[in-house]
Parts: sequence; structure tokens; C-alpha cells
Amino acid sequence: MSETAKSRAAALPHLRRSGLAMGDSIPLPLTMAAIFHAPGDATGFNQYGRFSNPTWDAVEHMLAHLEDAPCVAFPSGMAAISAAFFAVLKAGDRILLPSDGYHTTRALAERFLKPLGITYDVRPTSTFLDGGFDGYRLAFVETPANPGLDICDIAAVAGAVHKTGAILVVDNTTMTPFGQRPLDHGADIVVAADTKAPNGHSDVLFGHVASRNADIIAAVTGWREVSGSIPGPFEAWLVHRGLETLDVRFDRMCSSAEVIARRLQGHKAISGLRYPGLEGDPSHNLARAQMERFGFLISFELASEDKAEDFINNCALMQAATSFGGVHTSAERRLKRGDAVSAGFVRLSVGCEPVEELWKAIETSLDGISGSRLG
Ligand SMILES: Cc1ncc(COP(=O)(O)O)c(C=O)c1O
Repeated sequence: MSETAKSRAAALPHLRRSGLAMGDSIPLPLTMAAIFHAPGDATGFNQYGRFSNPTWDAVEHMLAHLEDAPCVAFPSGMAAISAAFFAVLKAGDRILLPSDGYHTTRALAERFLKPLGITYDVRPTSTFLDGGFDGYRLAFVETPANPGLDICDIAAVAGAVHKTGAILVVDNTTMTPFGQRPLDHGADIVVAADTKAPNGHSDVLFGHVASRNADIIAAVTGWREVSGSIPGPFEAWLVHRGLETLDVRFDRMCSSAEVIARRLQGHKAISGLRYPGLEGDPSHNLARAQMERFGFLISFELASEDKAEDFINNCALMQAATSFGGVHTSAERRLKRGDAVSAGFVRLSVGCEPVEELWKAIETSLDGISGSRLG
């Protein structure tokens, strides 16, 4: 981790310090309130739970510290993505999405933007620059893309997108601000599902939009207030608590993923292994240039649906579950969710278990489906 990322991590649990009065609780108090004491006409303080909440303020303060940009919190990653789209797009706009990113973003465009006159095209992440950006109002990338883990050059895409007058949105869910900060590479908007590693305990959905453009933040905040797409205070409180340990969890998860990916390379049951941290991976050089860490997601193929199911279900330290970024290692066959992958394609999210124990469990399960040890 760079020195600046380390100092960001160190300051994170102390952000509230300067605002504490004698006797205040050090942990964040949870404010469950739909209404606040608001006599007279004065403004500038909390009035109603759809407009503001002190627990949102605290979690947004943490996210803003990590992104180095104002952030607006939402009740899920998709709510954050929807807010970015609805706040900046209008009828007649054309947008560009990744063909290999999270499928629900394309579903949002197909089912809800298209009927409003906002059209879209798709392009693979690894060749996102090819074809240019003429005619687009907005380009949206996810890097590394979920689940294939291809990446694109954020700075190069931002430069090309800006030349045409369009804006670049980056879904940073797979990396978190500790792994990559797209705004530093020229992106206009970051969206993220804090449901994943930022909360980290798989018990909450949450999301945020970050931008250094004041007009965009005002539009996104306005969207939240008017649409009512607001996070619950308790969910915000849990994410605040999760963020306090994100640095430690993310560090463990990425370090373990590096070890496990390297060992998976030698296993004969595995093909099509993808991890940006592996020297031979097509994403590696670019990953080294723009990412702080290589992440905690690994993808690979097993010979069939049955082998993949057996591998996941028989691994003692793995949960068969969708989503990723939790403390528990989990895995899923992504064909189940409609991704354009083979029946044996597995996305593995490396959790916080001690790495040697985790590797033993993974190796035992892999050996069980292949009937032999390392090939
Ligand atoms: C890359 C990516 N973006 C956005 C989302 C949506 O997040 P949420 O489920 O919190 O709406 C997901 C969910 O898996 C995701 O993987």
C-alpha cells in the first residue's frame, strides 16, 4: 500500500475525533429518526429523514475521506448506479456499458432507461477504448469487471471520453477505494456497492456515489431526496462500523488471494484462471500501473457444472453464495446468474480466514473433484 493510502487508513477511525464534546461516545451513535426538532423557518439542520440523517453524515464522511471526494450514500449498489444515471441523463442520450460487467447494470439500461429514450451500446472491458466515444453522453466501466476480471485503462478511457464531451462513470465495487481510486485517474463519477468489502460482513446492502464535480453531487443528492432512494440509518451505522476495519480485511483478503491464485495455477482441475496479480494474466501490467492491490476475486473454470458445484459445496471453508467481499470465503458458478460464461466457471471471493488453512481446504476440495493432487 502506498504511503498516502496508509495515512488515509490511519486517519479513518479518528475522523469524528475533532467533533467530540466531553462525554460523547467514541463509537458512532445510531440516530433512528424520521423527524427532528425543527421549530420556525430556519434551515441548515436536520428536518426530515428523507433529507438528511447524522448517521448518513458519518458514513459519508468516511467514504469521502477514502475517495477524496464528496460522497452520497444509497441503500444498495444498484441504487447508487441508478442515481448516477437518473441524475445526469436525459431523453436522447446514448451511453456505453461493459458487455462483461455486472449484468444488472445492463438490465437497468434495457428495462428502464431505453423506454425513456436513453439508448445504450455495450463493449468488452479489455477493448473498451476501441471504437472511440463519439456520440455518447456517458461511458461506464467496471474494472476489474465482475466476473471475468478483465480491466481497462481508466486514465486512457477518461481522456478519450472527455475529448468528446462525455463523462466517465467507474463502478469500483471489485476494488474499494483502498485498491483503486478512479477519480484520481480522471473518472467523473465513482459508483460502488458497499454491500461487498466495505461493509464486509454480508449483512447489509449499501452503495455510494462519489464525484469531485459539485453539480453532479448536487444532482445525485437531489435525486436521492426526491426519489426517496435513501439508506436506512441502521444500515449506515453498520457500514460505518465495517469501514473501520476495511483496511485490515482488504489487506488480508488481497494477500491471501495472491497466494491462492499462484497455487491454483498448478492444479490440473483448473483452466482459464484469471487473477490480475498473476504475472501471466492479460490484466497484469495495467493492474500494476493503476491498482494499489490486485483484489480478492479469482475466477477459473472447472470441467463441468457438477465438478464446480462439488468443488464449492465440499470445501469446508467456503460458502456457496452469490455476492463477494465478505469475511467468509465464498464462491458461485456464475452461469447460474446469467453471465456469459461456461457451466463450470467459478468466481471465488477470498475471505479473511488464515491463508494456509484456507488453501488446505481449497486444495482438498479440488483434489476431491479431480481425483489427484497437483498436476
Ligand atoms: C460490480 C457490481 N456493481 C454493483 C453491484 C450491485 O450492488 P447491490 O447488490 O448492492 O445493489 C454488484 C452486485 O453484485 C456488483 O457486483
